[in-house]
Amino acid sequence: MTTTTENTTATAETTTVLDASGVTMRFGGLTAVRSVDLTVNAGEIVGLIGPNGAGKTTFFNCLTGLYVPTEGKVSYKGTVLPPKPHLVTQAGIARTFQNIRLFANMTVLENVLVGRHTRTKEGLWSALLRGPGFKKAEAASHKRAMELLEFIGLEHKADHLARNLPYGEQRKLEIARALASDPGLLLLDEPTAGMNPQETRVTEELIFAIRDQGIAVLVIEHDMRFIFNLCDRVACLVQGEKLVEGTPAVVQGDERVVAAYLGTPFEGAPGADEVAAVEAAEAVAEAAGASKATSAEVTEATGAAEATEAAEATEAAEAATEAAAAEENAAEAAATAEAAETAEPTEAAEEAEATEEAEATEPAAATEATPAEGTTSKTSKTSPEGETQ
Ligand SMILES: Nc1ncnc2c1ncn2[C@@H]1O[C@H](COP(=O)(O)OP(=O)(O)O)[C@@H](O)[C@H]1O
Ligand SMILES: [Mg+2]
Repeated sequence: MTTTTENTTATAETTTVLDASGVTMRFGGLTAVRSVDLTVNAGEIVGLIGPNGAGKTTFFNCLTGLYVPTEGKVSYKGTVLPPKPHLVTQAGIARTFQNIRLFANMTVLENVLVGRHTRTKEGLWSALLRGPGFKKAEAASHKRAMELLEFIGLEHKADHLARNLPYGEQRKLEIARALASDPGLLLLDEPTAGMNPQETRVTEELIFAIRDQGIAVLVIEHDMRFIFNLCDRVACLVQGEKLVEGTPAVVQGDERVVAAYLGTPFEGAPGADEVAAVEAAEAVAEAAGASKATSAEVTEATGAAEATEAAEATEAAEAATEAAAAEENAAEAAATAEAAETAEPTEAAEEAEATEEAEATEPAAATEATPAEGTTSKTSKTSPEGETQ
């Protein structure tokens, strides 16, 4: 297996293999994919990232005809695709699934032969009569399937039942089955999910080798090290919308991508309204809870804030602000608590909403460590940058 990290097919680069434009998928009131444009060129490996529920798999389903997109169109090599899975496969797009879909009780070889089905011209009668044409086609299919098993390193398990393969090998077998349809574009949905680092490395090599055979690849993955090492281009979906697209370096350094993975809302983020609504509801719940807060807790909040003031000079200024906010909010919480006790529940909620919603949660935050410390440890743990180091 040859591995090339550099793009070796510069001459073919200008050919657009996949062109999805304005793809939108709605399920009732939920817009899972919102007006997404994405192209994949010949010779490219393109990555699709985004938090769980971002709409990545739904987008794949729209590309492959499993879903009929509510809006938008998908073209393969300049021809608009009909939203029918078998026609999409026939056109030249193959895929693997996030949840492995093998024929568990068929052998490894038979699973690959199933994938070959769209490329065999022999019809029903030929198959039933088992004439010379059929036998020849069958032999050719068998040969090709064995080649593919060799390519993924599973030829020695051709006769094993698919269900007896370890998880990592099942994922590879799915790739072989997809390749059996002779695709021009391969879509991989989380190909390394559940794999150990060693298996992930092998899969990376395998995908480079597939690209080197002239097959364009679009891959969904959560493993940032894997995706940034593998892809020529990466697009990040957040709440159904394409947030950023660019080279791994660009996407990796984009603070919005980091924020999306950390779950920190940022100005203008898709779904920011929903996030604000949830936060407001949480603030209301918190305020209602504060009605039960004892004065001791309030004193503790203020005390902690005072303690922070004794820290370094630069931190002292921040702490002072925090302390002020904490005191102010403690007063607000107390006021709300009184109101909650005397007024109707709905009125109390309205009052809590009227106060600065985001601030309502801050007394608790002020009792903990300084915000700077908290943020640093969180970033180093989960940011894409951190993972690639
Ligand atoms: N068939 C469906 N019916 C209703 N909602 C769906 C369906 N498929 C996906 N969704 C919803 O669409 C959103 C995106 O899901 P998905 O595409 O699986 O995300 P991802 O693959 O990025 O984790 C989720 O909120 C999910 O619940
Ligand atoms: Mg998914």
